[in-house]
Amino acid sequence: MSEQLFIPTGTKDQVYTTILPQIKALIEGESNLIANLANISSVLHTTFKHLWVGFYLVEGDELVLGPFQGPIACTRIKKGKGVCGESWEKKKTMVIPNVLVHPNHIACSSESVSEIVVPVFDKNGNVFGVLDIDSKKEGEFDEIDQKFLEQLATLITPFTA
Ligand code: SME
Repeated sequence: MSEQLFIPTGTKDQVYTTILPQIKALIEGESNLIANLANISSVLHTTFKHLWVGFYLVEGDELVLGPFQGPIACTRIKKGKGVCGESWEKKKTMVIPNVLVHPNHIACSSESVSEIVVPVFDKNGNVFGVLDIDSKKEGEFDEIDQKFLEQLATLITPFTA
């Protein structure tokens, strides 16, 4: 299936409100989880042009790098380590305005300054993986990103095993 992404302009709220139904439609037509995570990364990266957008997926006691867009990244992160590992352990979204002053941060890229990490839950309510978005700009992410990215994470749950 060939899809054309409509990238809206406007407030962040308006942009998310326009792209979320497009993402929903895009992934509804495909049952493969990895294919869907890859396209979600692409939509977010194309729309917002942040430094790095991608997924880490739980494998045993580690998160392993999944589909992403951006510079090469750390491939394995232990539970509780870094912002991603912390989001997994606490089962909650982490919004970090400045990673340089956050005590628990893994510097995959020295260019990354702020980040948001949202847990993705499986059908049993366990953390299946995390969505990680990194920006070069301080304080890039707020409660608007949190609200919409948590909604996006719920769209992924039906595709988990
Ligand atoms: N910043 C993350 C590590 C992953 S990358 O930046 C792509 C963290 O501290 O969990």
